[in-house]
Order: sequence, then C-alpha cells, then structure tokens
Amino acid sequence: MNLIKNEKFSLGKHTFPFTISPDYFQPNKTTELFVEAMTGRLKSPFLDMGAGLFPLSAWALFENNDVKVYASEKVPEQRELGKQNIENLASLYPCKNILKRFDSYCGSWFDSLPSPNVLTYATISGDLSGIANDIGRHMGWYNDNVPAGGLDGTEVIIPFLERVRPYLSEGGSVFFPIAIGFSDHEKIMDCAKKYFRKLEKRIGKINEKTKLRDDKKFIIPPDKLPGLTDLKSTYTFLKNLKNQNSRTFWEGQIYEATDPII
Ligand SMILES: C[S@@+](CC[C@H](N)C(=O)[O-])C[C@H]1O[C@@H](n2cnc3c(N)ncnc32)[C@H](O)[C@@H]1O
Repeated sequence: MNLIKNEKFSLGKHTFPFTISPDYFQPNKTTELFVEAMTGRLKSPFLDMGAGLFPLSAWALFENNDVKVYASEKVPEQRELGKQNIENLASLYPCKNILKRFDSYCGSWFDSLPSPNVLTYATISGDLSGIANDIGRHMGWYNDNVPAGGLDGTEVIIPFLERVRPYLSEGGSVFFPIAIGFSDHEKIMDCAKKYFRKLEKRIGKINEKTKLRDDKKFIIPPDKLPGLTDLKSTYTFLKNLKNQNSRTFWEGQIYEATDPII
C-alpha cells in the first residue's frame, strides 16, 4: 500500500498527524462538510459509519475528550490503516485516553456491530459512498479498492437509512450526505422522509441572515468535465449540475435526521 504521511492534517479546529493512501479513499470536501455539520452537535457515543481511514473518528476524539467513538468500515485494508491512525494519535496524546474511548468494526453497514440491545449511539454519521459508480471513478475519488454508491449513488446510503433507526439512542441524530448532481438525491430524500419525522439541512442551506446561499458548491475541474458530459445519457441527475460563467459545480449537502418513525 502506498502511504502519504501528513503531519499537519486539519479538520475543523484540530490539526493532527494522519496517514492516507492514494490506493484508498482520501478524506475530501465531504469529510469537511460533515465536520462543519456536526460541530456543536456531537454527542456520545458517536458511530462513524463508512469511516474510511477514520478522519471523522479522529476529529470526534479531539473535539470532545468525553466522547466515546466507534468506527465501522467495510474495506478491511482501510479499517486497518484507520486503526493505525488512531493508535498513532493515542501514543502522541496520552492524556486524551484515546484508546479507552475508541473501538472499530469491519463489515458492511451494521453487520459487525453489537446488537442494538447492547449499544446504541447518540450521534451517527453515515458518510457512506453516495456518488454513482462511474462518476466516482471518473472524478478520481473512488478507485477499484473502494465501493462507490452503485448505479445512481443511492445503493449504499439507502440501506443505511433503512437500517439505522434501532441503533439510534433516544433523542439521537443521524447525519447523512446528499451529492446533488452526482446522485439521485430525490430518491435518498424520499427514503429519509419515510423513516424520520424531522430532517434539517445543516450544510448547503440558505443563510437566513444574509439570504445568500452558503457556498457548498464545488468546482468540477475543467479536465473532468468532458468525460462527465459523456455520461449524461446514463445519469439523468447530471442535469442538476449548476453552471456559472465558464464553471460547472456540484453541490454537497448534509442533513441531520431526528425523531425516527418506529
Ligand atoms: C465517501 S467515503 C468516506 C470515508 C471517510 N468518512 C472520509 O471522510 O474519508 C465512504 C466510505 O464508505 C465505505 N463503505 C461503502 N459501502 C459500505 C458499507 N456497505 N458498509 C460500510 N462502509 C461502506 C467505503 O469503503 C468508504 O470508505
């Protein structure tokens, strides 16, 4: 595995050493959006589902010294590198008691977790693959080692939303992503509405004070655009990409779901 050691990896207000790999999923803009959405809303225990190399787990361990963190990731190699990242932080910051506050699982969705009769979570992030396969590969975010979101970007998020409710503590929150333009976001929202009474857009909302749209649109690099446009006939939702002057953007939103319908 190729490794890139980053001594100054920053998430939210924290900077810590973190190792990533070009062979696996590298934390990106969506990781940052999750941090922004969960800042001030993180409760213990926290479940980081689709943890990749564990950046959100690391952030949560720094954000609050009392939070217990559990990470779950499907790809064994990613889980292994993620564990090494957390163990490294534990040895560098012994006063944070990181290893006493952290555990991880390897498996698909909730398959490897203890039964919800044993453990439920007050905050759950579902930063699971939410971008359609061909688009994820074309953008260079997903290589063959990491599962992307299936034909329409919903095939990993929807089963997560269908299965998450028993694992949520009373009064708890689930955070999930919507990639407008890169997934069938309406299908994901219809599913979320079926299972939760309350859905609040935490990132990508209209800022009520200024009436301006929060800038959570990300430029599509010009060299990626031609190939994407070729995919248009397969992916009708690519029509949701926004154009402004000569640039084209996709949009990242994060929702907080509460009050599950049992
Ligand atoms: C968008 S990446 C996010 C990773 C990490 N949260 C980050 O910010 O870097 C999605 C992750 O979900 C994982 N994943 C995909 N399908 C999964 C499943 N069925 N169960 C658990 N994890 C899954 C992928 O392997 C990948 O690491």
